[in-house]
Amino acid sequence: MAGYKIAILISGRGSNMAALIQACQAKDFPADVALVLSNRADAPGLAVARAANIPTHTIEQGAFESREAFDAAMTEVLAGAGVRLICLAGFMRLLSADFCHRWRDSLINIHPSLLPAFKGLHVHQRMLDAGVRIAGCTVHYVRPEMDEGPILVQAAVAIAADDTPDSLAARILEQEHRIYPLAVRLIAEGRARPAGGIVAIDNYSFPKQWLINPPLD
Ligand code: GAR
Repeated sequence: MAGYKIAILISGRGSNMAALIQACQAKDFPADVALVLSNRADAPGLAVARAANIPTHTIEQGAFESREAFDAAMTEVLAGAGVRLICLAGFMRLLSADFCHRWRDSLINIHPSLLPAFKGLHVHQRMLDAGVRIAGCTVHYVRPEMDEGPILVQAAVAIAADDTPDSLAARILEQEHRIYPLAVRLIAEGRARPAGGIVAIDNYSFPKQWLINPPLD
């Protein structure tokens, strides 16, 4: 056990959650999954977490009269579990400003675009409609505004002429599963320092490759 406890918040399938659980199972990984929390009892990811012996918790929104009350219930569960980092992984619910402040710099999200481009929903269709050549994904610290916050890690994915939203989503998802564990590692190792809207990473070597799409030859 690494001792640095993280929680993963899901609403659905939980493939990023599964990637994080798998990463945390490696002996040299500096974090452990203490809890998977869902806002939906029918989220398929809950069964995946249980199968990996991770404690799960569901807080259904219907029982709460306000966003703040729901978020306060989440904070109680998360703080009770001794969590130091919260990873949103397909958690499809806006968070209150109170919650974002309470967990500031301890709350991260993954989004299937190269932020700050293409915030929001239906991202893959919108990227194809816009004709962009390079797509990607981003792990970032969460701020109260949707899909805003200092960027931790990104990966780029070239768009193919015959891509559909589903084919593009599948290729981006592969990269999501790589960068989310990397972002958690950087934080748990104390190497990520958010300040002034950006994140400095200690001991970071710049990759000297460029990606051009379409390729030159
Ligand atoms: C992922 O593609 C994630 O980037 C996206 O939802 C999907 C969840 O899949 N999140 C957002 O769009 C947040 N704005 P998963 O449940 O298999 O991890």
